[in-house]
Amino acid sequence: MDQFFIDGGKPLKGGVKISGSKNAALPILIATLLTDEVCVIENVPVLLRDIRTTFQLLESLGKKVISQNSRVTVKPQASLKTHAPYDLVKQMRASVLVAGPLLARFGVVRVPIPGGCSIGLRPIDIHLNGFKALGARELVDQGDIILSSRELSPGRVRLKFPSVGATENLMMAAAALNGETIIENAAREPEIEDLGRFLISLGAKVKGLGHSRISVLGKPVLHGARYSVIADRLEAGTFMIAAAATQGHVELLGADPTHLKDPIAKLRACGVKIKTGLRKITVISNGKALKPISIKTGPYPEFPTDLQALWMTLMCLSAGKSEVEETIFENRFLHAAELLRMGASISVHGNHARIFGVKKLIGAPIMASDIRGGAALLVAALAAEGHSVLQRVYHIDRGYEKIEDKLSALGALIRRANDSRKISPSS
Ligand code: EPZ
Repeated sequence: MDQFFIDGGKPLKGGVKISGSKNAALPILIATLLTDEVCVIENVPVLLRDIRTTFQLLESLGKKVISQNSRVTVKPQASLKTHAPYDLVKQMRASVLVAGPLLARFGVVRVPIPGGCSIGLRPIDIHLNGFKALGARELVDQGDIILSSRELSPGRVRLKFPSVGATENLMMAAAALNGETIIENAAREPEIEDLGRFLISLGAKVKGLGHSRISVLGKPVLHGARYSVIADRLEAGTFMIAAAATQGHVELLGADPTHLKDPIAKLRACGVKIKTGLRKITVISNGKALKPISIKTGPYPEFPTDLQALWMTLMCLSAGKSEVEETIFENRFLHAAELLRMGASISVHGNHARIFGVKKLIGAPIMASDIRGGAALLVAALAAEGHSVLQRVYHIDRGYEKIEDKLSALGALIRRANDSRKISPSS
């Protein structure tokens, strides 16, 4: 298993190109199941493990996927199957998104129940209730959910919580139905808007993107399209926080500041200077101690749960006491115990964490347990004094393309070991 060797304490300096968004690319690739024509998707972060798993998933269902740099072509190859294989679903929960397009097109779909993961139980009841509101029946067999409907019909669905995945699943189903479906209390994340724009490019009519009431006017036959995925706001947020934590000066190229309004406001409140432009964010540290700023995660446009762990790392380095409240996932503080091993002072009570800033973090052997918690530990190691070994890097590889190469180019001393790929210059 790969690990990172990191010698911390060097400010990150320079420019970094932000990749295409993983969480936008995943549903967009899956939405190609809605058409029998060719789709060309640009700006896909093709090196990510979850994107590779999505290619395998599409191929297992009958598509042919050709990827060249960040351009992915999805073509029809065989008649589509309606049973997603367990081996792929267990690797990536987002596989459940195949349910919407396949159920709407073929009247039946069989998907293994994804199960929980290290950040929480993650049920799919909101997805299922949405399909049932459109006329589907549900049956559980051998750990799979079988959804079927003689005729799924467009209609009105109200989500009990603005779930990102459920909104996407229902939007995709609605795009293949003849008529208008309204999704109320829909998620408003930029990735939802990106999926909506892709569905429009396939021929559906989608209104209300970015709002909590989305209308999709679908049609049974959608055409192929060429589309470019938005930049990854979570990768951009990670580099912003890494720059602030290491007292650096970093320019994020391609990042969209309008997708990161709350994190940018919070960083400014800490005393970090941030300049924004069209597809560019520059983070400039002022050399002074960071002010402690508390956050509470929430559905977009509130503070993203995916940057919560990173914020905790930053607050470990602030001059005072702050609080972090996680409201989206029930178990997303696993990184806190690892930060303690680096000299942090954190107490956790349920979904609240209290952080007392320390003068410095100290390098240590540490272990990632999920994508963003792993990234938070990586940033802690970059900011810490001394040497760290970060294990279970495969979690980070699910969400960040060539992160050690991007960090090395910014001056970080980081090296991957046990890797078949070329190793970046050693510290
Ligand atoms: C998406 O997950 C993202 N994944 C996650 O990013 C992100 O953390 C999350 O949205 C929240 O923003 C992808 O886009 C592939 P949800 P998703 O459905 O769709 C509960 C990362 O690090 N819930 O909005 O699974 C659920 O348990 C990943 O890149 C139900 O109870 O998120 C959770 O507590 C991790 N029933 C909350 O809602 C349901 O049917 C939010 O889940 C669905 C969700």
